Parts: sequence; structure tokens; C-alpha cells
Amino acid sequence: MLSFQGENILSVNQLDRDCIERIFAVAKKMEPYAKKQKRTNVLEGAILANLFFEPSTRTRVSFGTAFNLLGGLVRETTGMQSSALAKGESLYDTARVISAYADAVAMRHPDAGSVAEFATGCDVPVINGGDGPNEHPTQALLDLLTIERELGRFNQSIDGMHIALVGDLKYGRTVHSLSKLLCHYKDVKFSMVAPDGLQMPDYILDAVDNAGHKIQVVDKMEGNLAADIVYQTRIQEERFPSQEEANKYRGGFRISQAIYNAHCKPNSVLMHPLPRDSRLEANELDNDLNSNDNLAIFRQVQNGVLIRMALFALTLDVADKVEQYEVDVPWFSRKRNS
Ligand code: NCD
Repeated sequence: MLSFQGENILSVNQLDRDCIERIFAVAKKMEPYAKKQKRTNVLEGAILANLFFEPSTRTRVSFGTAFNLLGGLVRETTGMQSSALAKGESLYDTARVISAYADAVAMRHPDAGSVAEFATGCDVPVINGGDGPNEHPTQALLDLLTIERELGRFNQSIDGMHIALVGDLKYGRTVHSLSKLLCHYKDVKFSMVAPDGLQMPDYILDAVDNAGHKIQVVDKMEGNLAADIVYQTRIQEERFPSQEEANKYRGGFRISQAIYNAHCKPNSVLMHPLPRDSRLEANELDNDLNSNDNLAIFRQVQNGVLIRMALFALTLDVADKVEQYEVDVPWFSRKRNS
């Protein structure tokens, strides 16, 4: 399907099971570099253009970190208003310009299809960091790697698992991409737990159904969280037609330790793409879960760096050269020593 070298990563539709396994194999190889046990300069001299036209903390910083960890340099723009897009420049022109500076691009933009449009003007690999409500392929890959690793602790696999997707399934791009990736696995049971009006779009339900998975579409958490993976999401207020409309749903589905005890399985793994909305009126994943060993949200973050390193290594065709460019780590590192 995807040969990786020089290719864009725009959608999970480009990935089959072999591609996913190739990415995971390279991601696992990146672990000692992410932990600073080793260092590599394999991308020395390469420049990443990290273009974020929508708010982001972890996706933006982890793309940059991943490129830096491979020895490359990062140039960044943040926000629409501080870019020439605010002056009417087309995505195509911006892409032609950025191509003159960079060897790879990571991009986030509020419009569905925008990253693919940008890629038509770009002659270096473009990786989608989220295009409106549409897709978030790198998040889906890091979520899937997290699921594989978390279930692995209980000798369980993705095939045959039960996942509950909770919250804003209409606008949440991470659950769209993750559901599509899970179509490459077998006998998954999905509980789509969302209020009326924020349910999973039909085209995703159809894809999951066509993959032979079981789907339960429900509008309350009670009785529907006894899953192996419980994946909570944020109400994507920035995508609603009005703030009043978003306010109607805020705080509707909250998971706390008490809810976990009452409705989850003893070892249900709790995931969230983050940021969790911790404002009092939302509090969708309570801080009282922070000491719950099955809260995997910060392990997701670590896996995100590995996945993004893997994608850069594969698209820039250095996955097999990482060790060859290894250098010493002379400085003290908490991560290396932990
Ligand atoms: C998500 C996103 O931006 O789609 N966050 C992320 O990338 N880690 C989810 C969200 O913003 O709620």
C-alpha cells in the first residue's frame, strides 16, 4: 500500500495492517532514543516545518521533539493570524514556499481536507496533525500502539477486545481515525457512548460494520463502560455552530474514580487524546483518577513521540540508518537514569 519513502501521511485510509506493523516496529526501535539512553544524528541538517494553524500543545511539541530526537531542526508557525493565510494566501502557495525551506512538514488546520490540499503544492512529505473534524492519523496510531501495549499487560490482544468510545464522537477526529484503523483487526466490540446529536457519523459506523465488528450505539454511560478500553473525549467546542450549543453538552459525561468503580471493569484501561477539560463545569476525566494504574493518558503521550519519530524515519527513509548515526550522551538525563 504505502511505501513510506517521500510519501505524505494524510489519512489512516492509506494504512493497511502491514503498514501499521511496520510503523510499530520502527516506533519500538525508537524507545532508547526517546528515553535519552542513546542519541542519533541521522536527520542532522534536515528541517521540519511544523505548521500549526489551530491550538495544540502535545501534537505540536511532540512532532518537534520527535524530529529533534532524530537530530533534525524545527521551524514553526503557530496560529492562523500570525501567518500569511490571514492575508489571503492560498494553501497551495504557502506549500510552494515552505517546500523551499523544509525537508518535511507537520501541519494542523481547522478545515477538513486542508492538509491534503496543502500537500498538492508541497514536494516534501506532509504529515497530517489534524484537519478539522476529519482525521488525526498520528493520534490514531499512537492510540493503537497504546491499546496494544496496555492490553499486552493482561495478555490480551486488540483482536477480540471491547472498546467504549465516549463523549463527542461527532466532531472528535481522533475517534474517527482510531475507529477506521481498528477496521484492520478482528472481532472488536464497539460501544459508541455519546449524547443524541454527538454520535459517531454514519460513514464511520458503516466502515466499522463492514469490517465485521459489533457496534452498540448508546446515549448513557451507565451499563456501557464495562469495556477493556474506555476512551473518553472532549466536547470539541471550537467546532460547534455556537458556544450555547456546546454548553448544552459540557459535563454530560464525566468519569471519576467512583464512576470507574461502579461501571468499568476492574482493569479497564482509561484513555483520552488530551487535553482533558478539567474546568469544573466539564471535568470529564477527574483528577482523582491520577493514581489509578489503568489511567494510560500520559503513556499515550510517550507513545506519541515514538510514532512520530517512526513516521519521520520512514518517510525520510532513514529507519535502517538510525543506529549507524549514533552518538554519545554525555549529559545527565533523568529519563536515561530512570
Ligand atoms: C485532540 C485533537 O486535537 O484532535 N488532541 C490531540 O491532538 N491530542 C483532541 C482534542 O482536542 O480534544
